[in-house]
Amino acid sequence: MSARLVVLVSGEGTNLQALIDAAQDEAYGADVVAVGSDRPGIKALDRAHHANIPTFTVSTKSHETRHKWDEALTEACRQHEPDLIVLAGFMKLVGEPFLKAFGGRCVNTHPALLPSFPGTHGVRDALDHGVKVTGCTVLIVDDGVDTGPIVAQASVPVHDGDDEETLHERIKVAERGLLVATVGRMVREGWSVDGRKVRIGP
Ligand code: GAR
Repeated sequence: MSARLVVLVSGEGTNLQALIDAAQDEAYGADVVAVGSDRPGIKALDRAHHANIPTFTVSTKSHETRHKWDEALTEACRQHEPDLIVLAGFMKLVGEPFLKAFGGRCVNTHPALLPSFPGTHGVRDALDHGVKVTGCTVLIVDDGVDTGPIVAQASVPVHDGDDEETLHERIKVAERGLLVATVGRMVREGWSVDGRKVRIGP
């Protein structure tokens, strides 16, 4: 039986699309059963609609406190009975209720080689620092900002003359492949977390 993925998004949704495309093949081992966002009107939601995948939007603005927003997001995800939640360009930090429900089975993809350059400007920060190699990281979500145990990473060269956009586009090519491969292995082989070490497989 395929694993149930809920994917949370905030933007363009190219990583989401890569997961939707991969899941077309039964052998992938996972289905995207719902797509959730923190804002309406984004391209990622259009991609979900186009693929006939149910969506939900839980915006911080329509909740009195961040805690209430987190509870609503948790409940919206829970309704789809996910085996794994994937934050694919989801630009909000999840909080205690969410982690209580889904801790250890929620992964995020980040456009830098963690622990370098966490946060919302990972690409720009790496470029400003002058690194020659950057990349992307799939990590287990914890209560910090991109601090969770690392599941997989891929490196990407920085080219002379890169700006944030060109570098991010190159990273996103690697990122889509890494995310699809990593999520696929996780759902097919299982995973365990021992301190900071993540192991995929029995
Ligand atoms: C991805 O590069 C992802 O790593 C990044 O947003 C992009 C989303 O692209 N996420 C973060 O920076 C989170 N801190 P997409 O919407 O096309 O998948």
